[in-house]
Amino acid sequence: MREDLKRIREAAVEAMQQADSIDSLNELKVRFLGKKGELTTILKGMGALSDEERPLMGQMANEVRDEINRVLDARMEELRQAVLNAKLASETIDVTLPGRALARGTKHPLTLVIDEAKQIFMGLGFEVAEGPEIESDYYNFEALNLPKDHPARDMQDTFYINPEIVLRTQTSPVQVRTMEKKAGELPVKIICPGKVYRKDDDATHSPMFHQIEGLVIDEHITMSDLKGVLLAFTQQMFGKDVKIRLRPSYFPFTEPSTEVDISCVMCGGTGCRVCSNTGWLEILGAGMVHPNVLRAGGYDPEKVSGFAFGMGVERIAMLKYGINDLRLMYENDMRFLRQF
Ligand code: PHE
Repeated sequence: MREDLKRIREAAVEAMQQADSIDSLNELKVRFLGKKGELTTILKGMGALSDEERPLMGQMANEVRDEINRVLDARMEELRQAVLNAKLASETIDVTLPGRALARGTKHPLTLVIDEAKQIFMGLGFEVAEGPEIESDYYNFEALNLPKDHPARDMQDTFYINPEIVLRTQTSPVQVRTMEKKAGELPVKIICPGKVYRKDDDATHSPMFHQIEGLVIDEHITMSDLKGVLLAFTQQMFGKDVKIRLRPSYFPFTEPSTEVDISCVMCGGTGCRVCSNTGWLEILGAGMVHPNVLRAGGYDPEKVSGFAFGMGVERIAMLKYGINDLRLMYENDMRFLRQF
């Protein structure tokens, strides 16, 4: 019997230590310690022993059972730990994965032109002014010498919020707003880049586009100041060889008024498709500030004079960068935008 217990103990310890799953370990537990297990079977034979041997065998059987239980528990713990580790390993989330890179954009050609124009005019001593895109009829038309029944309003039909509030059709309302802010101070020397709106929509007109307004007021300002400033601007924007030409025109808020052309940047003035073989490209409207506009802004036309101009930013961008379709500027197509 002593030999049997020893054999069971060795067999159980070895088998349990080699068990490689919780299930097989549980099977071994039943096989060795269960009601019909090997140890129990031996204990059942104890009745046949002598009175001296029985307690000794009983004690030895207890020790064997305790030993097997210890090994069983230890191995069970090892296997549980292994199962847990495997689960943790398989469910690991690598939080150090790199994020998706955001492609860096480029400046829009309209922004590039506005930025460059600001630099040029600031270099000439201008300040940058601003005004609202939702504008009153008064500042957009009335104060600019365009009363309610004026026929020139037809050229600038726009979006009416109500009969007195419009989306501004031009940046010119900033002229009177600036004069009011300056309250008679001299000189006034501002540019104002911004969005404007008109009821137009075709290949060369967009219902929203950009202008840069300019306004200079001081004593003794003349048309030659206007021409000098515009020549300095166009030559910095388009190149030293560019010439300008002033043609008589009409705007209700300037008198005299002029349309300003630059020599064609595509052909240099010899004539091509872009300039319709004239050698010239129209880029802006300008003129000497009308006395009524000066008065609306609180300045005395007997004491001061001024000039104003307004240019289309889209047109300048198209000429500067050789863009042949206005709509490209609003489509947000990366193939277009990446070229700037
Ligand atoms: N506001 C005019 C336009 O949009 C341009 C302009 C500005 C003309 C200033 C003269 C003086 O057509």
